[in-house]
Amino acid sequence: MSIPIYIIGSSNTDMVVKAKRLPSPGETILGGTFLMNAGGKGANQAVAAARLGGQVSLIANLGDDLFGREALDQFKNENINTNFITLDANHPSGVALINVDEQGENCIAVAPGANSNLTPKLLEAFFSFLKAPAMVLVQLEIPLSTVEFIIEQCDARGIPVIVNPAPAQLIRTEVWKQVSVITPNESEAELLTGISITDDRSAKQAAGILHEKGIKNVVLTLGKRGAYWSDETNEGFVASPSVNSIDTTAAGDCFSGALAVALAEKVSLEYAVRFACVAASISVTRMGAQAAMPSREEVNEILHRNT
Ligand code: RIB
Repeated sequence: MSIPIYIIGSSNTDMVVKAKRLPSPGETILGGTFLMNAGGKGANQAVAAARLGGQVSLIANLGDDLFGREALDQFKNENINTNFITLDANHPSGVALINVDEQGENCIAVAPGANSNLTPKLLEAFFSFLKAPAMVLVQLEIPLSTVEFIIEQCDARGIPVIVNPAPAQLIRTEVWKQVSVITPNESEAELLTGISITDDRSAKQAAGILHEKGIKNVVLTLGKRGAYWSDETNEGFVASPSVNSIDTTAAGDCFSGALAVALAEKVSLEYAVRFACVAASISVTRMGAQAAMPSREEVNEILHRNT
C-alpha cells in the first residue's frame, strides 16, 4: 500500500548544449549539439516518481506562456495530478541553460521566473486540502521562505517531509528538526555541515552533524559511488550499478523522486536507497532531465538481477 506523494517545487525548460568539455569563463566552444528538454528540480522529481509508480501530485507555479502550458500538458501525460499548479500571468516560466561535457558532467544557470513567485499564499488551497497519510518532497529552487513554510505546515499535520537541499542553501536552524529525510549531494552536504566529503569517514561525520541538527534520516548521494544512509541507529553505504554515463543532469532529482516512491511504499530506508541508486544510475545513461527518467520495470529488472 502506497501513500500519496506531493512534490512542491520548480519547473524549467532546459536549453542544453552537449560539447567535448565545459567552457571556461570568457571562452566560446564550437561543435556541440543542442537539445531543448523539460526540466526543473521539482518537475523532474515528479516525473521520476510518477514513472516509478508513485501516486504523484506536483505543486508548482508556471508562467502563463508557451513553455508553461507545454509543461502542464506534459505533466498530465505522465499521470501527475496538476490540480494545484498555478499559471502566473506576471512571470515567465523558468529556464535553465545547461552545458554537458563528454563525461556527462554539467554546469547549470537558472532564470527561475515564476518559480520564484511560488509564495506561501499560493499554497493556501493546497494546505487546506492536505491531510495524512501523505508524503511531501521539496527542493530549494523556490523561495527559501516558502520551503520553510512547507516544512512547518507538514510538521503541524504529522506529514513526513523529504528535503532535497538543491541548489545548496542554508535553511533556518529551527526548521531542521521538522525534516524527516534530507538528501544532499557531496557539495550540498559540505555547505550544510562544513565537512568536505572525501571518503567514508567524512560522509559519516557530515551525516552526524545533520542528525545533531535534528534531522531523523540522512541520505548522502555520492555520485557514481552510490549513497550513504543513516537513521540514527542504523547506517550503511549502497553502491550504484556501474554504467556508462552520458548526462548526469537530474540524476539527483531521479534519486529523490525514487526514494520518495519507495518510502511511500513503506519499505526500509536501506531498500529505498538501493532502489533510488538503481533509478539514478539508469537516468545518467540518457540525455536530458525528465526525458531520462526510468520506468518501474527498468529499475526492477536491475534491482532483482542484483539481489
Ligand atoms: O537538477 C537538474 C535541473 O536543475 C535541470 O533540469 C534544470 O532545470 C535545473 O533546475
